[in-house]
Amino acid sequence: MLRAGVLTGGGDSPGINAALRSIVRFGFKKGVETIGFLEGWRGPIEDLTQPLGINDVSGILTVGGTILGSSRTNPFKVEGGVERIISNLEREKIDFLIAIGGDDTLGVAHRLAEHGVKAVGIPQTIDNDIAMTDYAIGFASALEVITDALDRLHTTAFSHHRVLILEVMGRDAGWLSLFGGVAGGADVILVPERDFDVEEVHRKVLHRKARGKHFSIVIIAEGAKPAETNGQIVAEAEVDEFGHVRLGGVGQYLANQLSQRLEMPVRVTNLAYLQRGGTPSPFDRILATRFGAAAIEFALEGKFDVMTAVHGMKIEPVPLEEALSQPRPVDPGLFYLLDLFE
Ligand code: F6P
Repeated sequence: MLRAGVLTGGGDSPGINAALRSIVRFGFKKGVETIGFLEGWRGPIEDLTQPLGINDVSGILTVGGTILGSSRTNPFKVEGGVERIISNLEREKIDFLIAIGGDDTLGVAHRLAEHGVKAVGIPQTIDNDIAMTDYAIGFASALEVITDALDRLHTTAFSHHRVLILEVMGRDAGWLSLFGGVAGGADVILVPERDFDVEEVHRKVLHRKARGKHFSIVIIAEGAKPAETNGQIVAEAEVDEFGHVRLGGVGQYLANQLSQRLEMPVRVTNLAYLQRGGTPSPFDRILATRFGAAAIEFALEGKFDVMTAVHGMKIEPVPLEEALSQPRPVDPGLFYLLDLFE
């Protein structure tokens, strides 16, 4: 029996457990035994494990989050972190790792390849900002939360003749804001890829009012930048172990600016961590199941330092070097959706 170690790192999302279930069940069928490392890369560093047998993954297809726990631990920021991982993998007789997470988690897997660690990555982040895959696990489920929120905001905005602003996640990429805005019928969609001009937003709201629409819905990504300052609005300047600040507050910034210009009331809702909760959407359950099985297949084929990637209907291995060497902003070919009805 080959032994696989699996870990889940970075921002969680629905769908991770569906991937764990597939790794364990498909792996069992292929003669691979799986153990779970807890709390992202902290698990291999501190040898925190739990068994992951068929019974341990029973019933988790529909459960959000990750039964292994997550963290933003960076082994390359921990004294002796890499050496401890290597010795723990030997101690646990791990033949290969499967790392589920975003660019930070997968970036560690890629760097460990130079130290002889065999790993396959599975892209997972609600931000959907990992290059060379059409989708990452979590994006579709977060979109459902955002769409439902916008549907709910429409009825109260209409009832009170208000401008309602919804701030959504997506650290540096506007996939959630763009696709969520289209799905939820937002009147104004603001993304990090295009600095926003408060006057332009003000004009769009007045234009709607002139047509008898005494309410407007604005969706804005947490990483969107006001043109006049060209800087992201930060909730917490303290950086995590991968150098990321915690974004937040751009929705309130825009509300304050609009309130100075409009007679209409302006209110803000920040969806924050609701976007990371709940049961996985059917799309994410299918994607995660396919990615989990593919990760086992690629490992058995000796394909390491790669990640599972979906291209249309195909699942293919993509070198982590290539996928992680480039950001994945919203495709400019989709910008037409930002003002489709203007
Ligand atoms: O990386 C996914 C993400 O949800 C981002 O959209 C968000 O900015 C960040 O994680 C929040 O990080 P944390 O969960 O550490 O607050």
